Amino acid sequence: MSVAVAVAFPNIALIKYWGDRDADLHLPVNGSISMNLAGLTARSQASLEPHLAQDELILNGERVEGDGLVRVIAFLDRVRALAGVEERFRVVSANNFPTAAGIASSAAAFAALSLAATTACGLRLGEAELSRLARLGSGSACRSVPGGFVEWHMGVDHASSYATSFAPPEHWDLRDHIALVSEAGKAVSSRQGHLLASSSPLQEGRLLGVTERLGRCRSAILAKDFAALAEVVEQDSLLMHAVMMTSSPPLFYWAPATLRVLSAVRQWRSEGAPVCATIDAGPNVHVLAPGEWAEWVVEQLQGVPGVKQVLSAAPGGPAHLEM
Ligand code: PMV
Repeated sequence: MSVAVAVAFPNIALIKYWGDRDADLHLPVNGSISMNLAGLTARSQASLEPHLAQDELILNGERVEGDGLVRVIAFLDRVRALAGVEERFRVVSANNFPTAAGIASSAAAFAALSLAATTACGLRLGEAELSRLARLGSGSACRSVPGGFVEWHMGVDHASSYATSFAPPEHWDLRDHIALVSEAGKAVSSRQGHLLASSSPLQEGRLLGVTERLGRCRSAILAKDFAALAEVVEQDSLLMHAVMMTSSPPLFYWAPATLRVLSAVRQWRSEGAPVCATIDAGPNVHVLAPGEWAEWVVEQLQGVPGVKQVLSAAPGGPAHLEM
């Protein structure tokens, strides 16, 4: 086979990855936990093209050049080395959600591309091997390879750093309602952000408690204990943002409407609604709630000034080939 199409979902980090111990291999300074987001898809078609002199990337109908292309070529070089092929690829990718809006578009994209490109070369990688490969494109992409609720084991080297699923999507109907307050791309990429993490005096404190938070988060998901999940998810997200805001130079990803949504979520929770909030490297707020609260949460979020759109997702499956 020299052409393959794969689909992967983005993921929302419930315990965050922030900081690399090896920026080249994307080996993280801590483990992390996430949930895949069903319905939001990155679809990638990879074909080997013997006549091409250089890899080509078309994203959402437009040819990508510059840094974006350089990053994908570096990744495809790794695929070529693994498969022992020399030909260039044509990659045609499309997301059905806004790119660079803090919805981990690169995670879904590299998970889908890992599967499509290796399959086009005739390789059949197992899940762990695919997860390691996806990590080389974008760290958090390793978590979009397995399905459902996923943990990225930080590891000590390339072989030991990959993600596995600890509960399937149908384990718990938890929903992520993404309050979009801005669709603008981020000013500082997470890639650059990871390099700044160690410059914050708070990073050490964040890392001291992360093993305990990983345990609490995993247990809360396995027990479907929303109150316990809410507490650890919000604390972990705010710890990461405190690190971001106190690094040199400081990184502020929030917009005024971000804070409005955070305050509203705290208010609703104090009134008895099972909701909590988490934010990745962008201004949009991911509001988690059990499935039976979905309609109510969306309606409330749409009433918060500055919220332009709400995207909702249930737990998603693994990266897979499209036949
Ligand atoms: O995989 P990257 O380099 O895009 O980093 C992701 C960083 C966060 O989204 C902020 C946290 C996470 O664990 O996904």
